[in-house]
Amino acid sequence: MGIDTMKPSMKVGVVALVGVCVILYQYHLSLGVRFDQLADQLSSFDSAAVSYGIANIPDAEDAGDADNDHNKITVEKIRAAVQSVQIEHGLSPQIGNVLVQELTSILSKTGAPTQVRNTEESTKHPSRISETTTVNLASTRELPSQRSNSLLKPLYIITPTYRRPEQIPELTRMSHTLLLIENVHWLVIEDAKTPTKEVTKFLTRTGLKFEHLTAPMPVKYKQKKGAKPRGVSNRNRGLKWIRANATDGVFYFADDDNTYDLDLFDEIRETKKVSMFPVGLCTKFGLSSPVVKDGKFIGFYDGWVAGRKFPVDMAGFAVNVKFLLQRPNATMPYRAGFEEDGFLRSLAPFEPHEIELLADNCTRILAWHTQTKKNEPSAPLDMKLYRSTNLVDLKQQIV
Ligand SMILES: *[C@@H]1O[C@H](CO)[C@@H](O)[C@H](O)[C@H]1NC(C)=O
Ligand SMILES: *[C@@H]1O[C@H](CO)[C@@H](O)[C@H](O)[C@H]1NC(C)=O
Ligand SMILES: *[C@@H]1O[C@H](CO)[C@@H](O)[C@H](O)[C@H]1NC(C)=O
Repeated sequence: MGIDTMKPSMKVGVVALVGVCVILYQYHLSLGVRFDQLADQLSSFDSAAVSYGIANIPDAEDAGDADNDHNKITVEKIRAAVQSVQIEHGLSPQIGNVLVQELTSILSKTGAPTQVRNTEESTKHPSRISETTTVNLASTRELPSQRSNSLLKPLYIITPTYRRPEQIPELTRMSHTLLLIENVHWLVIEDAKTPTKEVTKFLTRTGLKFEHLTAPMPVKYKQKKGAKPRGVSNRNRGLKWIRANATDGVFYFADDDNTYDLDLFDEIRETKKVSMFPVGLCTKFGLSSPVVKDGKFIGFYDGWVAGRKFPVDMAGFAVNVKFLLQRPNATMPYRAGFEEDGFLRSLAPFEPHEIELLADNCTRILAWHTQTKKNEPSAPLDMKLYRSTNLVDLKQQIV
């Protein structure tokens, strides 16, 4: 059977085995353990590879459905295998530990989805992180976000966010959308002085390519009465990152409380200058969109025009990176309600007739301004009553 005709899950198994062989061979060279001795040991891995589980090695976590268990190589199983090599061939425990680490890292690099359950507990006890690392060999379906398709230009998704009860749930929903998109780089920028630990942990777990940046709103705007220019410092920080680190592709300001159709990302990726498209659930019209007649832009439809040259929603346009780079002064102004207009004006020279109309001449709604219900911050936890219960951990995860 050629490598190309193998099932992806089997490929991963084979790659993992090759990794095991290479590493054991290296240790053979440095320790003088004969390769045939190691090969004996590897035969247990071999039969395991055939069944995609490591059935003959004691399973540390027998709970859960049997099928699933057989499809996982857990760190426990690797450890058990290394331990039997240790016992039979007198490998030192230190070398054993290094072996476990190397095998785990090889397995996680084979492209199999790796889950690191990063609980509060594992942060307190770093050594426990690796024990809950699970490499699932059966489900080797590569997520599009992890695929690096060189034919596709990168998509930079700029998402301002701030600490609030809905933050993690919103970012969770959004990450699930982005996981289905190829060549995506998520710039998550918090309105905070320091990055929130919970957010960093969350972003790491998604497996997405991301930057976790911070950009607090300047104090003078924070203290202003009335509508505040929310998300402006965050988005400008995102633009700064792009100016420093991107050379090509397209960026899109995607707030964490919106809903995005997957087609949107295919469409905006082709943006040459600035593209626009309808956004649903927006303003009193329930819609914000360019008006299109016979395939041509003739104006804007938006419930709040207010003298804006570009009366559009933040989620209603995307911009080419090169186009931005040619405009070093382009920036988003700290002016509540006029952020989009100000930014698009700052892209001058750029006129409405140059807008690239997406979503089939703006006949489809691919972005929705959903807006989750605001939740009150949670009441404090009675530590006298609930000390040393699960609630202490849970309380850390909510706002
Ligand atoms: C560009 O990327 C590098 C590497 O990730 C990072 O250290 C740097 O801060 C980025 N530049 C800006 C301006 O964000
Ligand atoms: C947009 O409209 C024009 C004019 O009617 C038409 O030629 C073109 O094919 C349309 N484009 C799309 C993507 O529907
Ligand atoms: C950018 O702004 C500076 C200072 O305001 C100005 O001198 C320069 O001409 C501007 N550059 C462009 C390309 O507009």
